[in-house]
Amino acid sequence: MSQRILVTGGAGYIGSHTCLALLQAGFSVVVVDNLSNSNREALRRVEQLSSRTISFYQADIRDKSALQAIFATEQPDAVIHFAGAKAVGESVAKPLFYYDNNVNASGVLLAVMQQFNVGTIVFSSSATVYGDPVSVPIREDFTLQPTNPYGRSKLMVEQMLADLVVAAPQFSAVILRYFNPVGAHESGRIGEDPNGIPNNLMPFISQVAVGRRSELAVFGNDYPTTDGTGVRDYIHVCDLADGHVKALQQFFNRGGCHIFNLGTGSGVSVLQMLNAFAAASAKPIPYRIAPRRPGDIAACYADATLANQQLHWRATRDLEAMVHDSWRWQQQNPQGYAGTEQQADLL
Ligand code: NAD
Ligand code: WQD
Repeated sequence: MSQRILVTGGAGYIGSHTCLALLQAGFSVVVVDNLSNSNREALRRVEQLSSRTISFYQADIRDKSALQAIFATEQPDAVIHFAGAKAVGESVAKPLFYYDNNVNASGVLLAVMQQFNVGTIVFSSSATVYGDPVSVPIREDFTLQPTNPYGRSKLMVEQMLADLVVAAPQFSAVILRYFNPVGAHESGRIGEDPNGIPNNLMPFISQVAVGRRSELAVFGNDYPTTDGTGVRDYIHVCDLADGHVKALQQFFNRGGCHIFNLGTGSGVSVLQMLNAFAAASAKPIPYRIAPRRPGDIAACYADATLANQQLHWRATRDLEAMVHDSWRWQQQNPQGYAGTEQQADLL
């Protein structure tokens, strides 16, 4: 019998790609998602791509009795926990929502896992827990000093997991700190589908390329970087998905709390990203230099040595693959998943 993985937030961007990777690696998948930032269509497409089925529950993970009923029915072996809200600016405006939806929600999930003796969790953390690092590349043992409620909510869940493992040493927690996830599955069938105006660079550039937005505002060109624009560690979402599969394979029921950066280890500037995307799409990407965005840092990229050594994972997809795959998704789905649900039902 294949292992059964309960994926919270599995209809979302990283979750949907991870569900596909799990199914292709032979796991069974149960998704719990309230669809607050995602579309059911993503999972239909994952089912089509994998020729497998997913047990889907539209539920909020803060709803303890709903979660208990799902655990009782599905009897998962392990959990991958993506569900949460992720917009930095929104977290400054609505901190209580972020502490409720990210921290309290994780508390409910962990309590139900304990109740049902499910002893392995893989948790989505973020490079944002490092705040403004003293140097780059960033190692896992660097000081943690998030600068906004979103980042603090991620750090609180990390601390909750570390404390839980002290109390229950057989419990296995893998904390994955993602750098900047981008790209889409190579089929172009699933990808990132942000609501409203994208906050992040890659979806913004791709919406300019496809004609949904007129130009990119480059937030600052006076940083101490190669070309003055911000440098980040962009990581292909399918590499991230593979990292979750590796985390389960290496740490299932092994006990302890294990923390890994998931990044490529190299930095790419805003203008390098823009030029790579323009080349892949053969579209001009108009841009203007705008003031720095408050809270942004100059450079952020990972030291991913620990993940190489202990997860036996490394990023294999380069910048060219990231921009080509993002563009394929954007071109084939100019409005994201919106309006495609009925077509899928007719197929
Ligand atoms: P996403 O918004 O696409 O996915 C999150 C999913 O969780 C969505 O489908 C949403 O509907 C669901 N959800 C939210 N609150 C829920 C709740 N209370 N109950 C049930 N479902 C709920 O985001 P993503 O980019 O796929 O991110 C997944 C995880 O990775 C998040 O925890 C995020 O904080 C973390 N992360 C993301 C990034 C990034 O840049 N995308 C970087 C680092 C970490
Ligand atoms: C990347 C670079 C911007 C948009 C955020 C969160 C972080 C994590 C990943 C969840 C920066 C520049 C951007 C634009 C631009 N998420 N930029 N014009 O800020 O590194 O990280 O997403 O955990 O917590 O903070 O990513 O994609 O927003 O920005 O010039 O319209 O692109 O200044 O240098 P960031 P990003």
